[in-house]
Amino acid sequence: MSVINHTNGFSVAHELIYTLKVRDAMSRDVVTVTPDNSLREVQAILRERRISGTPVLEDGRLVGIVSLEDIISALDHGHIEERVGDWMTTNVVTIQDNMPLHRAVEYFRRYRFGRIPVLDAGGCLCGILTQADIVVRLMEGLNHIAEEAARREIALLQRAGTPITQGQEVTMEFPVNAGDFDNAGIASARIKAALKERGIDIKVARRAAIATYEAETNIIIHSIGGAITARIGAESITIQAVDWGPGIEDVEMALRPGFSTASELVRVMGFGAGMGLPNIQKCADRFHIESKPGSGTRLEVEIDLHPLVSEGGE
Ligand SMILES: Nc1ncnc2c1ncn2[C@@H]1O[C@H](COP(=O)(O)OP(=O)(O)OP(=O)(O)O)[C@@H](O)[C@H]1O
Ligand SMILES: [Mg+2]
Repeated sequence: MSVINHTNGFSVAHELIYTLKVRDAMSRDVVTVTPDNSLREVQAILRERRISGTPVLEDGRLVGIVSLEDIISALDHGHIEERVGDWMTTNVVTIQDNMPLHRAVEYFRRYRFGRIPVLDAGGCLCGILTQADIVVRLMEGLNHIAEEAARREIALLQRAGTPITQGQEVTMEFPVNAGDFDNAGIASARIKAALKERGIDIKVARRAAIATYEAETNIIIHSIGGAITARIGAESITIQAVDWGPGIEDVEMALRPGFSTASELVRVMGFGAGMGLPNIQKCADRFHIESKPGSGTRLEVEIDLHPLVSEGGE
């Protein structure tokens, strides 16, 4: 078993096998035999309990271990009716219950045993550990971590875009993650809904939605992550799209219709026509973009909520 990923030694699973203890993974329900049992009796016990080995206890003390291999060898050599005490392995490798799991993983790798008896601080047998126990415990741990992450993300998404009202003004904020196509359009849809709710003309709401959507997808496709903030005032809506990098090499070039650095993969998904920034400009009454390679891009769009002339073309 190799739970350690050597190319990325600090994986979540790696951290888990350091933080979990042997006692967190071991089985406590240990089947044991005594030195006075016959190997034949052990064979029956192993078959009945569907296990392939068992510790041997004498007056509560661990004195040996007997495995299915010992039984097979006893059958081969004709001593299956003899005492366990005469044929067991007495040189037993054990592990303490308070050891980190990674120690057990090392033992399994080094000794290639099927199971390792676990001793408590007083030296008494308190459990038994197999590689399957470790795998099951790791899966539980990873599952728990994954569920926590999913819960956090749902909470974050639910919080995202909840309008914060301050006097006349409403502010909505949306984190935007790099590569997160699944959530593309959330900021755009929420902003459009908020404007419609306030009775803003649908054409204006649509322009805000298009500008936001293009800004969102640019953060998703071209940046390492950022956020969209929308501030709805009495007269206008201001949409800010800020990301943390890598920034735009040549902003003037980026603004040209048809200019795109999108990858083939992104183009297959329907993006990368190089029309995002030009569309944003078309939707905006006021438009500002600044970008520094290395420190990210900041785009600000302002749209008047009550334009005097009804505009055609979106
Ligand atoms: N936030 C950003 N960070 C880094 N580069 C960006 C960012 N936004 C835009 N760019 C650069 O500007 C180019 C033009 O952007 P634009 O939105 O116009 O087109 P596109 O995203 O490539 O394609 P489309 O928007 O039509 O799907 C992008 O290809 C990219 O190189
Ligand atoms: Mg774009």
